[in-house]
Amino acid sequence: MMTRRIIQKKWRLGLSIALWLVSLHLICAHNVKSPTALSIKEGSDDHSQGEETLLEDEDSEDLEVFRPTDKWQTLKPGQAIPAGSHVRLNIQTGQREVKLGEEESLKYRRDGNRQGMNTHNPSFTAEELKEALKKYKEGMDDPVDTTQDEDAVRAQFRPIEELKKDMEALDMLMETDVQVMRRLLNQLNNTNSTTEEKVTALLDLEYLVHQVDNGQNLVSMGGMQLVINALNSTDIHLQKSAAFVLGSALSSNPSVQVEAIEGGALQKLLTLLATQRPTAVKKKVLFAVASLLRHFPFVQSHFLKLGGVQVLSELFQTPGAESLRVRIITVLYDMIIEKELVSQVGMDLTSDSSHQERLRQYAEVSLLPVLVEQGWCSLVPALLASPEHDSREKALRTLLAMMAQCQTQYKQNPALTASLSELQKQYQELVLTEQDVGEQDGYFGEILALVDSMVVKMRQV
Ligand SMILES: *[C@@H]1O[C@H](CO)[C@@H](O)[C@H](O)[C@H]1NC(C)=O
Ligand SMILES: *[C@@H]1O[C@H](CO)[C@@H](O)[C@H](O)[C@H]1NC(C)=O
Ligand SMILES: *[C@@H]1O[C@H](CO)[C@@H](O)[C@H](O)[C@H]1NC(C)=O
Repeated sequence: MMTRRIIQKKWRLGLSIALWLVSLHLICAHNVKSPTALSIKEGSDDHSQGEETLLEDEDSEDLEVFRPTDKWQTLKPGQAIPAGSHVRLNIQTGQREVKLGEEESLKYRRDGNRQGMNTHNPSFTAEELKEALKKYKEGMDDPVDTTQDEDAVRAQFRPIEELKKDMEALDMLMETDVQVMRRLLNQLNNTNSTTEEKVTALLDLEYLVHQVDNGQNLVSMGGMQLVINALNSTDIHLQKSAAFVLGSALSSNPSVQVEAIEGGALQKLLTLLATQRPTAVKKKVLFAVASLLRHFPFVQSHFLKLGGVQVLSELFQTPGAESLRVRIITVLYDMIIEKELVSQVGMDLTSDSSHQERLRQYAEVSLLPVLVEQGWCSLVPALLASPEHDSREKALRTLLAMMAQCQTQYKQNPALTASLSELQKQYQELVLTEQDVGEQDGYFGEILALVDSMVVKMRQV
C-alpha cells in the first residue's frame, strides 16, 4: 500500500515537472505570429522554412504587432511579437503571455551566438532545457576566459538564469526522499504521535531505506538512534517495525552497519531475542541481526563476545519457536561460509594488504568452536525431521559446513544416521520423478547430492 502511495506521488511529481518545463520562459527571437504553437523560431538569418510552416494558416497581411511591456500580458491570436520579448505559456489559461525582454537579451540575439540551444529546432525539449541549465552552471564555474566580451557572455546566459529560477521553484515543489524522511522521523520522534502513527512512519521509512543513500540519510539525520530507541519500546508493533527498518537499512550498507553498532543496536537486538516476545517480532529481529552481521567480521566477533550464539541456541530450542529454526541456522551458516569464502579468495590475493586485513579480522571470528561448545552438532540434525525441503537443504548444508568439528558427534548420533538413510531413499525417488519430467539437474537432485555427501563424509576417518 505504501509502495503504491509513493509511486503515485512520484508519478504526480513527474507530471508537474513536465508542466513546469512547458511553462519555462522562452525567449522570442524573431517576429512570430502564430499563437497556436509554443515553438518559437529563433535565429535572425534563417527565417526560411520553419517560420513558413508556423504561418501556414495565417493571413500575414492582418498581423497586428503586439507591444510588450515589462509585465506579462496575454497574447491574442494573430499578434506578432517583437524580437527580444519573453514568451511563456500559462498552464492555467492555456494562453501565451509576453513581456519585454532585457536589452541584454536583444544584444545576445543580434550576436546570434546561442550556445546551449538548438538553433535548428524551433522548440525546446526538456532535454535541451536541462542541457542549457547544465551549460549555465558550467558557465558560472568558469567565467569569461574566452575572447567574447563579458556583456555578451552575461547576456547569453540571461534567459537561462530565469530558467534556473524556475528550476529552483520546481525543486521546492518536489518532496525529496530526504524531506519525506524528515517528516517521518518527526512523526516518530513526536511524543504526540500515537503508536499507530509511529508504526506507520517506521514502515514508510522501511520502504525508503532500502536505497543505499537513504540508509545513509537515516544516519545523518539522526534517525538511526530513533529507530534503535524504538527497539526499546514496550509496544511489540513498534519493536517489530523498528527491527524491520534496521534490517533493511543495514543490508549491504557498511556505513549504516557501523552506526548501528555504535548506537548499541546489537545488544538491544540480542536482548529482544533472549526475552519473551511474539515470534513475529523475533523474525524481524533475526532479520536485523543477520543484516548487521553480514560481511562485517568486527560485528561477528562482537556477537560472539556478547553471547550471541548462546542466545540463538536457546531460541532454537524454545518450544513454539520452531518456525524460527531455519532462520537461525541460516544466520550461522552464512557466517561460516563467509569466512570460508574469504580465506579461499586469499589464495590468489595474498599480496593485497586490505585483503590481509580482512583475513586477520575473520581469523578473530572463531565461530565453529563456539558452535560445538553450544551443542550445535546435535541441534542441527533435528531440523532434518522437517517436512520442508528448504529446511532440510539448509540443515544439510550447515551439517556439512560443521563436518570437520562435528564428525565424531555425528557418527555417534544414531538418529542422524537414520534420518540420512531415510532422506536418501526419499530423494532418490523424487529425483526419478524429476527425471521423468525431463529435469536432469533439479532441486531434488541437489538435495540428494547433499545427503550423499553427508553419508560419505561421515564414513571417512
Ligand atoms: C503536542 O500537542 C500539544 C497540544 O496539542 C502541543 O501544544 C504541542 O506543541 C505538541 N507537541 C509537539 C512536539 O508537536
Ligand atoms: C527528537 O526530538 C528532540 C526534542 O524533542 C530533538 O532534540 C531531537 O533532535 C529530535 N531527533 C530527531 C532525529 O529529529
Ligand atoms: C532500553 O532498555 C534498557 C533495558 O531494558 C535500558 O537499560 C536502556 O537505558 C533503554 N534505553 C533507552 C534509550 O531507553
